[in-house]
Amino acid sequence: MEPVYSPYDPAVIEDPYPVYAWMRRESPLYRNEDLDFWALTRHADVAAALPDGDLYSSDHGPLLNPGDWGPRARDYISFLAMDPPEHTRLRAIVSRGFTPRRVAALEPMIRQIARSYVAECVEKGSFDFVRDLSACVPLDVISELAGIPPADRADVRLRSKPLLHRDPRADMAELDVKTIFRLVDYYGAVAAERRASPRDDLVSVLVAEDGLSDGEIVAFLMLLIGAGAETTTHLLSAAWYHGWRHPGQRATAFAGAIEEWAAESLRYDTPAQGLARRLTRETEMYGRRVPAGAKMWLLIGAANHDEEVFPDAGAYTLTRDQSRAISFGAGRHFCLGAALAKLEARITLEELVAAVDPSYEVDTAGIRRIGHGNVRGMRRLPTTVQP
Ligand code: HEM
Repeated sequence: MEPVYSPYDPAVIEDPYPVYAWMRRESPLYRNEDLDFWALTRHADVAAALPDGDLYSSDHGPLLNPGDWGPRARDYISFLAMDPPEHTRLRAIVSRGFTPRRVAALEPMIRQIARSYVAECVEKGSFDFVRDLSACVPLDVISELAGIPPADRADVRLRSKPLLHRDPRADMAELDVKTIFRLVDYYGAVAAERRASPRDDLVSVLVAEDGLSDGEIVAFLMLLIGAGAETTTHLLSAAWYHGWRHPGQRATAFAGAIEEWAAESLRYDTPAQGLARRLTRETEMYGRRVPAGAKMWLLIGAANHDEEVFPDAGAYTLTRDQSRAISFGAGRHFCLGAALAKLEARITLEELVAAVDPSYEVDTAGIRRIGHGNVRGMRRLPTTVQP
C-alpha cells in the first residue's frame, strides 16, 4: 500500500524523512486529496518553483492552513503573503532596517543576551533547552530590535502563542482572536509612540520611512515574531539535539566548527519545512495537469535531503558542502533575516561551547515536538550540562 503523507500525521511530525524519501523517489508530484494540496519534494523542483513567483503565487501566504482570525485581520496581512507590486514596495522599505551594517552592529547586544541566558542555564545544570534558552534569545533579540521593553516581553510572548502554537487545522477560538488583537493593539501603540518620539531602533527607522502605515508596521512586527523568533529557536534546538546524537560531529563543533554546526543543522532538520503557494495557471507536471488555483506544497525539508544534491543526505556531517541548501527559501521572498539568524545561532552556540563541557546529555523521553505543519521544531528539550 502506498504511504499517505500528511504533515499533521504524528509519525511524520516525529520523523518526516522516510516519507519524503518515498515521495522523492516514487511520487515527486504528490497529491493529498483530503488536505487538497500537491507536494513537490525533489530539490530540482522546489529550487525551481521558489524563484518562479509568477507561477507560484504567495498571495495566500506560505502557511498550509492559515488560521482565520476574522475580517479585521485583512488590515494586518504581512508582505510574506503578497505578490508584486505590493510585496516589492513593502520589502524594499523594510529591508532598510536589515542592511548588513545594521545586522553586524547587533553582535554585542546579541552576545550579551545569549551570555546571560547561558550563564543561568549552566547554573541550573539541568534545564529545558527550549524554555530556558532557545526560545529566549531570539525573542529578546527581536524585542530589542522592535523596541519592546523587557517588562513587556513576557506578555508579548504570551499573546503571540495563538499565532505560533495553535492547531493549524482547527478554527481559531474567540479567545485566541482576542489575544492576537491585544498584540496588534500593543504593536500599534509602540508604532505611535515611536512616531511621537523616535529612538535608535527598527520601529523608529520604519516610522520614519515614507509610505508605511501603522497597520503595515504592525503586520511586519507580527511577522517578525513568527518568521524570525520561532524559526531561530528551532534551529538552535536542532543543533543542540543533533549535536548530542552525533558525538563525533559534536567534537568537531566544540573544536570550533560553529558556523558549520548551525549550517548542517539547518539543512538536516530545517525549521521551515514547507512553504505553500498558489498556482496561477494550469500547468503540466510529471504528466499530470495541475489546475490553476491549486495549493502547492513546496517541501524544503525534503529538498534538503535529496541525494542528487546532498550525497548521503541522511548523515549529519558538519563538513559537507552546504551551498545548495534552500533553508531560507529562494527568490523574491528569500528570508530577510537570514544573516541575523546565522549571527544569532553562531553567537549562542559559541557562548554554549565556551561555557559547558561537550559531554552534555539530552533526556530523549522528555522531548516534545510541535505539530505545526509548516514549521518543524521542539517545544521541550530537557538537557543536563556541566561547566
Ligand atoms: C522569509 C526561513 C529567521 C524574517 C523566510 C522564508 C523562509 C525563512 C524559508 C521564505 C518564506 C516564503 O518564501 O514564503 C527562516 C529560517 C530562519 C529565519 C529557517 C531561522 C533559522 C528569520 C529572522 C528574521 C526573519 C531572524 C528577522 C528578524 C523573515 C522575513 C521574511 C522571511 C521578514 C519574509 C520575506 C518576504 O516575504 O519577502 N524566512 N527565517 N527570518 N523571514 Fe526568515
